[in-house]
Amino acid sequence: MNTLEAILTRRSTRKFLAKSVEREKLEKIVEAGRYAPTGGNCQSNHFFVISNPDVLKKLVELVQSAFAAMELREDLYKSLQNSIRLSQKGNYVFNYNAPALIVVASQKEYGNNMADVACAVENMMLAANELDLGSCYINQLKWLNEDPTLLEYLRSLGLKESERVYASVAIGYADTESGLPNRKESPRTGNLVEFL
Ligand SMILES: Cc1cc2nc3c(=O)[nH]c(=O)nc-3n(C[C@H](O)[C@H](O)[C@H](O)COP(=O)(O)O)c2cc1C
Repeated sequence: MNTLEAILTRRSTRKFLAKSVEREKLEKIVEAGRYAPTGGNCQSNHFFVISNPDVLKKLVELVQSAFAAMELREDLYKSLQNSIRLSQKGNYVFNYNAPALIVVASQKEYGNNMADVACAVENMMLAANELDLGSCYINQLKWLNEDPTLLEYLRSLGLKESERVYASVAIGYADTESGLPNRKESPRTGNLVEFL
């Protein structure tokens, strides 16, 4: 797959097989993330490649409890309302049960934190596509990146005091008939362009 093909055929996957992802593939994917550009070449992203089911289960529980405790208000961002609603019903799985989740943190006091992390996430999603794996950008740990209970747990996994999570990416084999990720075209109707 060439780069343009990888870009144009990458689609978000939200249904995964319960099949673990080979360590070698996860290494390639996180390496693609490490090679993403960073502002001023700071290279201050911190990657947590999580495939331990107990750690994933704990994160799912903590995310669900954090959202369940929030007030559901109509003025909130729609996806956030959805997370709160499902969590209050007790059936919210923010990572779609993907067998791997790469959580990316950066320095809290650094102006390019989210930009650096987003570049890394896109690189990793493209690498996943190349490796016939599905992926999905996951924002919930960013929304909850000041939640004290989640912070404490993430610190027990190695997050530094000065770091916060800015994105994560769910990765796994797609639950499709072919076992390959959905690569259906999704023509863009927004994202305006001017050639001058
Ligand atoms: C900043 C950002 C945050 C996103 N957060 C989520 C998320 O939390 N959960 C989710 O299912 N998809 C999330 N997405 C994926 C988008 O919904 C998806 O990219 C978009 O609908 C276009 O579909 P495609 O990726 O299949 O082309 C996010 C994407 C971006 C760029």
